[in-house]
Amino acid sequence: MTTTPSHFPADFLFGAATASYQIEGGAHEGGRGVSIWDTFCAQPGAVVAGDNGDVACDHFHRWESDIDMMEELGLQAYRFSIAWPRVQPLGTGDFNDEGIAFYRGIVDRLKEKGIKPLITLYHWDLPQPLEDNGGWLSRDTVDAFVVYATRMAEEFGADVEMWTTFNEPWVSSFVGYGAGAHAPGHTSDAEALEAAHHLNLAHARAYKAIKAVAPSAQVGLVNNCHTPRPWDPSSEKDRAASAHIDALANTMFHEPFIEGTYPAILKPNTAHITDWTFVHEGDLAEMKGAVDWFGVNYYASHLVRHNPHKAAQQSELATLADGHKAGGNSPWPGDEEIEFMLPPGKLTSMGWNLDPSALHAHLLKIHRETGKPIYVTENGSAWEDKVDDDGRVRDTDRVEYFHGHIDAVRKAIAEGADVRGYMAWSLMDNFEWAQGYAKRFGMVWVDYQSLERRWKDSAYWYAETVRRRQVVPVEQIESLVQTPPRTR
Ligand code: GAL
Repeated sequence: MTTTPSHFPADFLFGAATASYQIEGGAHEGGRGVSIWDTFCAQPGAVVAGDNGDVACDHFHRWESDIDMMEELGLQAYRFSIAWPRVQPLGTGDFNDEGIAFYRGIVDRLKEKGIKPLITLYHWDLPQPLEDNGGWLSRDTVDAFVVYATRMAEEFGADVEMWTTFNEPWVSSFVGYGAGAHAPGHTSDAEALEAAHHLNLAHARAYKAIKAVAPSAQVGLVNNCHTPRPWDPSSEKDRAASAHIDALANTMFHEPFIEGTYPAILKPNTAHITDWTFVHEGDLAEMKGAVDWFGVNYYASHLVRHNPHKAAQQSELATLADGHKAGGNSPWPGDEEIEFMLPPGKLTSMGWNLDPSALHAHLLKIHRETGKPIYVTENGSAWEDKVDDDGRVRDTDRVEYFHGHIDAVRKAIAEGADVRGYMAWSLMDNFEWAQGYAKRFGMVWVDYQSLERRWKDSAYWYAETVRRRQVVPVEQIESLVQTPPRTR
């Protein structure tokens, strides 16, 4: 009988992830330009409670202390994003020295602490002037992105090995241009597909540009995985529905970089929406081979079925769980007869289900389909956290979530998937996009009045898991936490 090792490999990287607009604040400081998220947040009704990222976690002023906290947590890696409008306020033209110096400080301090930086160049905060010029519907934005990526590689390429061009191009295109639930808030299926293609092209061109400047850079693409499964596996139509969602959500964002093609079913399935003439001759050839690794962001699994009458029937929760805006357009072009079903069981406060087995299966699938190294670049959950009278945040649900999912990663590695790291989402509570500050994903609690940071139980649990390189049994929490917990 073979046994699966209970420890993670010695070179496996445990870390945490954040994104610029979600934590930085300092929106009007240091010469930062306006991003599409500043504009979107100002639209009435776009974001819960009218929240915005003006202050967020005030990481712009507290970054040194935040990195000290990462050291206390024992993190080996930190995935963060550069706000494009902070380093190049208009998205074209002059770069802003003060903005670049801010990230220089972060990179240097991480290095000093022995924490490996993973830079994401684009976590959704496009400079507004580029959106005014057509955003991701314009090839000018592709060109601008390459200039920006090149400059960042010149600045940081000697110190940073791990680069990501885009975080979740599916969300930028299908939720931003299709569902309208994210900036820039457009609702067009045709635009969503075109934006997706331009993001892929920008990835490929930036990949080459970064490596030309920094040959040792490992340049990856981070995708949010959807893990569709047919409601009735014996139904051909349910299986076709699931394949359509898989093509739009997953394969569309890795097949071009491996095979130089888009999934064959995409064009016929969306022929009533677009003629795909936005794909120019040579685009796909440019994409082939342009990736060193893939990032997997995983949160929940998806059950789909064919239903010609779905419009009237899809439950509101299943709809929201899937990136729709209530009553809005769908983020899935060609889904007129595809219905998302709510999987059974407990749900997080985002209305998302818990399914570590889908993460395990997805890691093996990406391994099979791409053969590339994989990093879990985000994984985590939001719950109704609260600070108890003794100062503790007893987020046992989050600990259980992490436990199940990190163990699923371990199993996938044992079965051959080349997974090299795990970044918990998120280091601390932050601005959760259209949900504002209402949803908390952090291992560290943020008091949005005082901006104090406070370790939740999950922070203690994760720190110990990183230290042991082995998932710590949930029952051991009581022996790990300090009362009152650490604050900063
Ligand atoms: C991801 C996104 C993160 C975070 C997370 C939780 O899609 O990259 O920024 O918000 O979802 O919803």
